[in-house]
Amino acid sequence: MSHGPEAPQYLHSYGDATDLGELEVERLRLLNTAYSPTAHAMLAPHLKPGMEVLELGVGTGEIGSWLAEKVGAEGKYIAIDKDPQQLAKAARLIHGSQVHLIAADALRLSDSAEFSAQRPAEGFNLVYCRWFLCHITEAQRTKLIQHIMSLLAPNGVFICEEPDYRNMRLKERGAITPSPAIDSWKDIVKGLQAKPSLGLDLEMDDSKLTAELQKAILGHAGYHAEIICRFEAELTNGQKHALVLGIQTAAKAILSLGKAPADVDTLLSQLRIIESNPDQSVVFYTNTFAKLTRSVDSMTAALPLPT
Ligand SMILES: C[S@@+](CC[C@H](N)C(=O)[O-])C[C@H]1O[C@@H](n2cnc3c(N)ncnc32)[C@H](O)[C@@H]1O
Repeated sequence: MSHGPEAPQYLHSYGDATDLGELEVERLRLLNTAYSPTAHAMLAPHLKPGMEVLELGVGTGEIGSWLAEKVGAEGKYIAIDKDPQQLAKAARLIHGSQVHLIAADALRLSDSAEFSAQRPAEGFNLVYCRWFLCHITEAQRTKLIQHIMSLLAPNGVFICEEPDYRNMRLKERGAITPSPAIDSWKDIVKGLQAKPSLGLDLEMDDSKLTAELQKAILGHAGYHAEIICRFEAELTNGQKHALVLGIQTAAKAILSLGKAPADVDTLLSQLRIIESNPDQSVVFYTNTFAKLTRSVDSMTAALPLPT
């Protein structure tokens, strides 16, 4: 694989991650409580004991521990993250002789001797990522998806679960209600998306994911792409603390947009008020699940795929 530009900076470990790491663990844990039931339902039909699974951008391991358990000791679960601190946290949750946590840039997997040694010769039955493609650029996504295609076993699937913030809203006793805090959250995301160093794209809806998967498979026989699910999580009670943590862990990037520290503090106070109001809930990001399947026909693929 060619050495492209460096992977963008991960937003929630922007700058010095050391004192933010535990906040990020808690942020992802809270979000996982809201999103994982749908993820489990989407992934379960593709998982059996003995299967070989790859997860990209595993973060602190919230879904990974479940995936490793599903494939069992007779299977293999490989998780990739470029941040060794995230992987150290994932190691607290993900256990077993089948588990391989590898610190590597997912955009340069072929450079990782550990990944090359562990990848199954027949390919992976499932490659999965959540909230990962949104942290790399579109050009990088196309190359990565094509690389993933080459890593799939016949009948193997790639499932990605990616977010769109645009329908985020506040509800009070079930009714949508205006919220300056949610409006400033959206403004901040817009600003962050415009920063090339972050390579952030939180507008990953059906049409974008479909277009990107179709672009990646164009000219390659035997691959099929489809959208399988769209899900918005409603954060209630303690789950709403994920919003405060989202701003805290991204504070350095937010301040680099030219926001005054006092404005960030005001937003945090507004979010804490929402958090402590049991009548209010926040409809958070819409996750879209896309699936790419490699059929046995792909053995006669017309074009070579990047390795
Ligand atoms: C939002 S977190 C996702 C966490 C996890 N997938 C979950 O659902 O809880 C994104 C993760 O992707 C990792 N990441 C970003 N770019 C990467 C790259 N090029 N290669 C490997 N990991 C990357 C970050 O370090 C971070 O841990």
